[in-house]
Amino acid sequence: MDYAVITKDLTRRFGDFTAVDRINLTIPTGQVCGFLGPNGAGKTTAMRMLCGILEPTSGSGKVLGFDIDSEADLLKHHIGYMSQKFSLYHDLTVQENLDFYAGLYGLVGSKKRRRIEEMIALADLAGRENQLAGTLSLGFMQRLALGCALISHPRLVFLDEPTSGVSPTSRRAFFNIIQDLAAQGTTVIVTTHFMEEAERCHQIAFFSQGKLLALASPDDLKQTSLQGILLELPLADPLRHMDDLLDLPYVKECTIHGSTLHVLVKDQAGADQLTAFTKVQPKIITPTLDDVFIALAKSQESEAER
Ligand SMILES: Nc1ncnc2c1ncn2[C@@H]1O[C@H](COP(=O)(O)OP(=O)(O)OP(=O)(O)O)[C@@H](O)[C@H]1O
Ligand SMILES: [Mg+2]
Repeated sequence: MDYAVITKDLTRRFGDFTAVDRINLTIPTGQVCGFLGPNGAGKTTAMRMLCGILEPTSGSGKVLGFDIDSEADLLKHHIGYMSQKFSLYHDLTVQENLDFYAGLYGLVGSKKRRRIEEMIALADLAGRENQLAGTLSLGFMQRLALGCALISHPRLVFLDEPTSGVSPTSRRAFFNIIQDLAAQGTTVIVTTHFMEEAERCHQIAFFSQGKLLALASPDDLKQTSLQGILLELPLADPLRHMDDLLDLPYVKECTIHGSTLHVLVKDQAGADQLTAFTKVQPKIITPTLDDVFIALAKSQESEAER
């Protein structure tokens, strides 16, 4: 397997605080890897190190074969990066923004014109070339920012929360572009808080408190991360029952999903005891990614207590 990203115990500290803690990532070329995890988990910090923008405190990493520390300047020319606060020039038009970024990468003449046209098509911005970027809707702005990040035809692109704040329709359109890019061989690393986007990634890297808690496909995560049986309980007023259920020795976890409760029990005996206790017939369900992430964070907490 050919890997676009490999890290070894990659770490970043800010003073006494460890923002990224000895992460070991392997991301195959041409895949979409989703960075997930709570706010402050270290996703952006990890991404900035992988881009060669931020020096690691310890550990190492190779991105597209370049050492992220000693070859950072070279690396920057081979990747695209769309930051969480993406940087468009609001007082320039769509065309002028693309032109500016193309210039940064040394594109000129007909090559430049062709690439700008391709990016306008990719971002579905035809007809808006002369519109000021600042007057675009957020969805279009984000697609323009993606076009700017891709202008140099990078083999790897980092997208930091590219779809936050836009409508579900725009989000889906954006992710279609991401999947097309990967199908054409571009590696995409994307942070997101949306489960439906996580489901569309080849691999998920789940971060919590600076640690990489899991790196696997969505299906593998669902099949392997939960130790026990997950049950759905259709109880009226689920919030009222949560504390009682959590006190039961055979209940490991309990979360609310709409009007139902998801309860993780240790084993079949636990499932039977729960049925006897609630007098409600539970349904065995496949965990959602949400269930998986809650369980991962929980196991990290209990590990820390030990
Ligand atoms: N330059 C810095 N100086 C000090 N602390 C920092 C710096 N950059 C990040 N941090 C801290 O490192 C931690 C991880 O931040 P990071 O931005 O990587 O999280 P994140 O997972 O991207 O979160 P979010 O989902 O909110 O974007 C946070 O506690 C943050 O405050
Ligand atoms: Mg972030």
